[in-house]
Amino acid sequence: ENKTLPFEAIGEGTLHRLVDAFYRRVGMHPDLAPIFPDDLTETARKQKQFLTQYLGGPPLYTNEHGHPMLRARHLPFEITPVRATAWLACMAEAMDEVGLEGPVREDFYARLYLTAQHMINTPDDET
Ligand code: HEM
Repeated sequence: ENKTLPFEAIGEGTLHRLVDAFYRRVGMHPDLAPIFPDDLTETARKQKQFLTQYLGGPPLYTNEHGHPMLRARHLPFEITPVRATAWLACMAEAMDEVGLEGPVREDFYARLYLTAQHMINTPDDET
């Protein structure tokens, strides 16, 4: 069987445009901007590396930063259900902006949805 990797289906150029479109929204979002650095350049660079390997491409994130341990790396930040919803909304809008559509988008988004739920570490009423 010869299955195309999601990374190949999406393409590096579209993935990088997606991440840039995503962090432009994060940086302006009232629920998200306060917990992110003002300069999102390095955050976007790491996210491009991470999503490349998440989608089956080369392990760029792990090569530079080690095991992702994503939930542990998010523990310093209060990730509430409201922030998870905001994160996913920014991602859906970024997918619209770069024209990512069809089954490859639906599968990618479904995985991000589950990963985002896994990052939640704080109830809404504690922020
Ligand atoms: C880093 C928030 C979900 C992947 C971060 C940072 C914040 C954050 C504040 C630190 C940024 C920095 O200091 O540069 C959130 C919130 C989420 C969420 C509010 C809502 C659920 C996700 C998901 C993924 C993800 C679903 C992956 C699919 C990453 C990666 C980093 C990161 C790869 C960089 C880690 C590093 O420093 O090496 N996130 N995140 N995040 N996030 Fe998230």
